[in-house]
Amino acid sequence: MINRAITAIHKKGEFKAKIALVLGSGLGNFVESLSNPTSIPFSEIPGFPISTVEGHSGEMVHGYLDDIPVLVNSGRVHFYEGYSLAEVVYPIRILKALGAESIVLTNAAGSIRKDYIPGDLMLIDRLLNLTGRSVYKGGKEPDSIFDNEILDNIRLIAKRAGINLKLGSYAGLNGPSYETPAEIRFLRLKKADAVGMSTVHESMAAFQAGLKVVGLSCLTNYAAGILDQALNHAEVMETGLRVRDDFARLLSELIRSQAF
Ligand code: HPA
Repeated sequence: MINRAITAIHKKGEFKAKIALVLGSGLGNFVESLSNPTSIPFSEIPGFPISTVEGHSGEMVHGYLDDIPVLVNSGRVHFYEGYSLAEVVYPIRILKALGAESIVLTNAAGSIRKDYIPGDLMLIDRLLNLTGRSVYKGGKEPDSIFDNEILDNIRLIAKRAGINLKLGSYAGLNGPSYETPAEIRFLRLKKADAVGMSTVHESMAAFQAGLKVVGLSCLTNYAAGILDQALNHAEVMETGLRVRDDFARLLSELIRSQAF
């Protein structure tokens, strides 16, 4: 299936790059920074899972930032949409087959701490896989997928670019509903800083495939119960829109720096 997918993608253009990105909910505007873009809808790639969630446009784009080739998956699927883990991580395997050596996985996430406010960007330093499933069939999950030196480099790049970048752990849950306030109190106790419904399986599949992995969260809202108000998908999308330029600028700076 991967070979068929690669053949279909290569019919559209070159689609080869050492660096790949996966853009989550509402964070797709980075692709506008690319020159000479070529794109293929996910629906035209054999075996590719198609998202049903609002805000995921669903295409793979190849283009250049300055003269650096980049592959971007704009959109992803989630386990809660009914896909198997193999399907959820299939796009990662395709990016690897197209030459990716490093991958930046992005997502929208809820903040579990008051000092990480909606609109903040957060570099992920640890994952809590709370989905009850793993791409590591029977094997031991690695404790830290994110390389300390890369984390330090990225924080420095953000600082130099004047971008406020928080650092923290990401708890991945299955969803599809947002958490209850009691679940968020539990997660806080377990030292989670942000919560979302993606990224954990993709990170582990990428790490297992030998890619360097970077995780970036756009904190779109306070998680349930952090404030005394309900959250909704509209707020998540609105915050994504508000900070997407900063987010795109951070991605550009990271790619240009070639720090990973
Ligand atoms: N919880 C889970 N996933 C999310 C959230 C949240 O609060 N915000 C954006 N994705």
